Amino acid sequence: MSQELWTKVEQYFAPVVQEDEALKAAAKEGENAGLPPIAVSPNEGKLLMLMAQMIGARKILEVGTLAGYSTIWLARGLSEGGRLITLEYEQKHAEVARKNIARAGLGEVVDVRVGDATKTMPELVKEGAGPFDLIFLDANKDGYPAYFEWSLKLARKGAVIVADNVVRDGGVIDAASKDASIQGVRRLNEMVAAEKRVSATAVQTVGSKGHDGFAVMLVS
Ligand SMILES: C[S@@+](CC[C@H](N)C(=O)[O-])C[C@H]1O[C@@H](n2cnc3c(N)ncnc32)[C@H](O)[C@@H]1O
Repeated sequence: MSQELWTKVEQYFAPVVQEDEALKAAAKEGENAGLPPIAVSPNEGKLLMLMAQMIGARKILEVGTLAGYSTIWLARGLSEGGRLITLEYEQKHAEVARKNIARAGLGEVVDVRVGDATKTMPELVKEGAGPFDLIFLDANKDGYPAYFEWSLKLARKGAVIVADNVVRDGGVIDAASKDASIQGVRRLNEMVAAEKRVSATAVQTVGSKGHDGFAVMLVS
């Protein structure tokens, strides 16, 4: 298997996924603004939307907005009257995202908050913003252990937590890795394995974004 083949197979499924103009524009505007090309793929974004729909999510929390590409998919999966809060460290990313989200007609349902998620997540707890039905972790991977702990305080029973990029080209199995992202996801996986309140799995993915994967957890 090769990257070229993974990308071709992903493109083959484009008619199934149906990424629309607002999503294409969001990806393009992120690129034009010089943001890194690290958003979820269309296929993964659609999966996030479907997950939100499957659980009838009314409150979604996203950690790591970038240009708002995954935010748009997730917000489209909200039930009637639902709300999404997305947390982003970089002011510039948040500004690009707000424009993309508004263009997608979701400005009224999405709240983009700027700051370090290790600070903004505790603020959400304090203000009683939860409980959330779905939490998507996709910010700096060395922060995942802390984001997981805060997510447990913000999730309702029966909530779904999804953490992206937990495979990292297979790097996750390298216990001696000096890469802070790999160590972050390894620590997350240890915490998840030991946490009685979650039932979890991890699914490897290949596609235009290479070899990676999602951890999916159900909170009880
Ligand atoms: C992988 S990108 C998010 C991609 C986005 N979820 C998507 O798929 O369209 C990670 C984002 O997390 C942001 N980030 C990094 N560290 C953060 C932190 N401590 N708190 C909040 N956001 C952070 C980065 O600036 C970046 O925009």
